[in-house]
Amino acid sequence: MTIVKTIPEIRALRRKLSGTVGFVPTMGYLHEGHLALVKQARIENSAVIVSIYVNPTQFGPKEDFAAYPRELDRDLELLREEGVDIVFVPSDDEMYPPEFSSWVDVEKVTERLEGASRPGHFRGVATVVTKLFNIVQPTKAYFGQKDAQQTVVIERMVADLNLGIEIVAVPTVRDRNGLAMSSRNIYLSPGERQAAIILFKALTLARQLSQGGEKDAGKIRQQMSSLIQKEPLAQIDYISIADAETLEELNLIDRPALASLAVRIGKTRLIDNMPLE
Ligand code: PAJ
Repeated sequence: MTIVKTIPEIRALRRKLSGTVGFVPTMGYLHEGHLALVKQARIENSAVIVSIYVNPTQFGPKEDFAAYPRELDRDLELLREEGVDIVFVPSDDEMYPPEFSSWVDVEKVTERLEGASRPGHFRGVATVVTKLFNIVQPTKAYFGQKDAQQTVVIERMVADLNLGIEIVAVPTVRDRNGLAMSSRNIYLSPGERQAAIILFKALTLARQLSQGGEKDAGKIRQQMSSLIQKEPLAQIDYISIADAETLEELNLIDRPALASLAVRIGKTRLIDNMPLE
């Protein structure tokens, strides 16, 4: 496994690769969720490239950029075990030199949900992912369902800008209690971790209601909300039942839908989602 820090270095290595290249962009502090993406990329490609970069431009001024967990040596060890070929670990100067002034803005789908709660977040994501795609030039890139809206945004961007990269969405990896794996789970105390299971419970309830024939999205949102309100440590940011493709809120579930939510557990903001059949 080769570890590279600069753009000229990774370009030179990329040029030497033949066959398909699978790319997994990450912010590090890797867990089983990230590794599921890596494993799938490993199966489907001749070479696998992973990037580890905590992208400052996707964090709001009051968000956790400085506190975001970082543990590079452990990450590299995990990636070595997965048979990754190249890890790209750029510095901020490498990605955003002082004169940097170009941005990628994906409209509409970024205005809702995470986009509404975190202004500028998807501009930072779309910009850094475009840069990484241009640098790595992968055949396929792997994204988690865990961040369903991010995956939709990237798919939209790839189609709109004709980037010619196949986007693969990988199902969410959860712990035994149903809590979606996330680098941010490290912020949770043991009590909060227990409380955080409420996200999965609310999504499971949504799925059960929908499978039981409930078509009224408002009623499902309401039942999810009452369930979460029973958890004293939880504070709801949003609860959504939306069209799975456009992420527009639904009144009536008459097409493939996605239940998603953002909930604060103490000071930690967690997101999760589940497709409704
Ligand atoms: P990060 O949060 O590190 O996540 C990297 C990738 O892992 C994303 O595609 C995310 O959806 C996926 N992932 C995270 N937890 C997962 C889980 N429990 N199951 C399955 N997949 C999971 O998302 C980012 O980084 C950044 O926004 C990035 C795309 C790297 C741009 O900076």
